[in-house]
Amino acid sequence: MSIALVILAAGKGTRMESDLPKVLHTIGGAPLLHHAMLSACALEPEKTVVVTGFGSEQVDAAARAFDPDVITVLQEEQLGTGHAVAQAKEALSGFDGDVIVLYGDTPFITTETLERMIDARTSFDVVVLGFEAADPGKYGRLIMDGDALSKIVEYKDARDEERAVTFCNSGVVCAGAATMFDLLDAVGNDNASGEYYLTDIPGIANSRGLKSTAVACDEAETLGINSRVELAAAEAAFQKNKRTALMSDGVQMQAPETVFLSFDTVIGRDTMIEPNVVFAPGVTVESGARIRAFSHLEGAHVSRGATVGPFARLRPGAELAEDVHIGNFVEIKNASIDEGAKVNHLTYIGDASVGARSNIGAGTITCNYDGVMKHKTTIGRDSFIGSNTMLVAPVTVGDEAMTATATTVTQDVPDGAMAIARTEQKNKKGFARKLMSMLRARKAKQAKG
Ligand code: UD1
Ligand code: CA
Repeated sequence: MSIALVILAAGKGTRMESDLPKVLHTIGGAPLLHHAMLSACALEPEKTVVVTGFGSEQVDAAARAFDPDVITVLQEEQLGTGHAVAQAKEALSGFDGDVIVLYGDTPFITTETLERMIDARTSFDVVVLGFEAADPGKYGRLIMDGDALSKIVEYKDARDEERAVTFCNSGVVCAGAATMFDLLDAVGNDNASGEYYLTDIPGIANSRGLKSTAVACDEAETLGINSRVELAAAEAAFQKNKRTALMSDGVQMQAPETVFLSFDTVIGRDTMIEPNVVFAPGVTVESGARIRAFSHLEGAHVSRGATVGPFARLRPGAELAEDVHIGNFVEIKNASIDEGAKVNHLTYIGDASVGARSNIGAGTITCNYDGVMKHKTTIGRDSFIGSNTMLVAPVTVGDEAMTATATTVTQDVPDGAMAIARTEQKNKKGFARKLMSMLRARKAKQAKG
């Protein structure tokens, strides 16, 4: 059965107190909208429709960044969840598979849960995702009759005995496309909110002799985000799950609660992550590496056996080969560091390549930026860059070459050569003692007045 997704993302999210549309706030480095799209990705949807409203241009762009084939439809006025889904009707004309409705602000629904809903569709026309709520609050209540879902009652419209029900509506619904849009056509807005409720469809289905049911999932999956406080709580939940998943796969963390991960962080078995490390998006670390305390990594690849940090920063395009050592206060950006090379102290390597086994001395800087353009530095294999070398790009240092300490390299250095560019040292005999006594005498005179 082919699947189409309709993701509701028109709401402003007033309680976020933000100019940014709610679904673009991030968890684990990815917008809420992407999380919703990600969970359904494994179902290989034939079509994905995102219903936009507030900040539609931004939401549109974000949806497209995730999936260039996404269809976005604008819901000009937010007249309710039923009205929102109805906006997708035209975009899905001719599609005769199952439609799954998701909310853009509900990031933790799992693929497995969606698969269980699809399975339930073999015996039911409409399948709703429910959960046992610890505090049912204002959620819609699922009124069950055995396996059958009789109807959903919104909190505002519910009678006391209905409010006492703790089995609640997550918002996720699955039905055949034709059924879904037929039922939506029959939804009115004569209710306490004056909105077109998506939640009316199981009741209408039953009145037409169709069958509805609810599939239950853990409450944690249905967590929706409405405020900054809820966003922070969701981030915490995400981090906890992601750390647990990585540790289950053999990653060692000394203080897991201090390690921050992104939705796409990949770390291999037997890699050690020391405390207070941040993995921004786009990081892959292979097996048996060590990421030492207080390092920040983004868009970087770390190969087997490499060590990074403490206090290192890997920026996008950092590509570390096997057994590379990156030490403290070192920044690597858009640069490949080949096997066994060492960059151990106080160094900036940007827009560069460093050959295998080369050693970069403390305080080395690739001067890659002329104020307008970026330029490349190439360093060969088995070379030795002396401490405090300034490499003024574009420049190439060959294989088995050297630069003397404090050299400013402005011309290419051939293979096997040593570059030295600094003024010659002169020693002035007795000068230090003479200067110091002169300065001390001056200070004493000032103190007397
Ligand atoms: C909805 C459900 C409720 C359920 C709860 C779970 C309805 C009528 N009620 O209530 O049963 O327990 O979610 O969180 O469906 N949206 C649009 N366009 C609209 C209205 C909403 O895109 O016109 C989007 C919102 O941006 C949001 C989602 O749909 O992402 C849910 O809307 P919201 O108003 O938060 O629904 P609830 O009142 O929470
Ligand atoms: Ca809500």
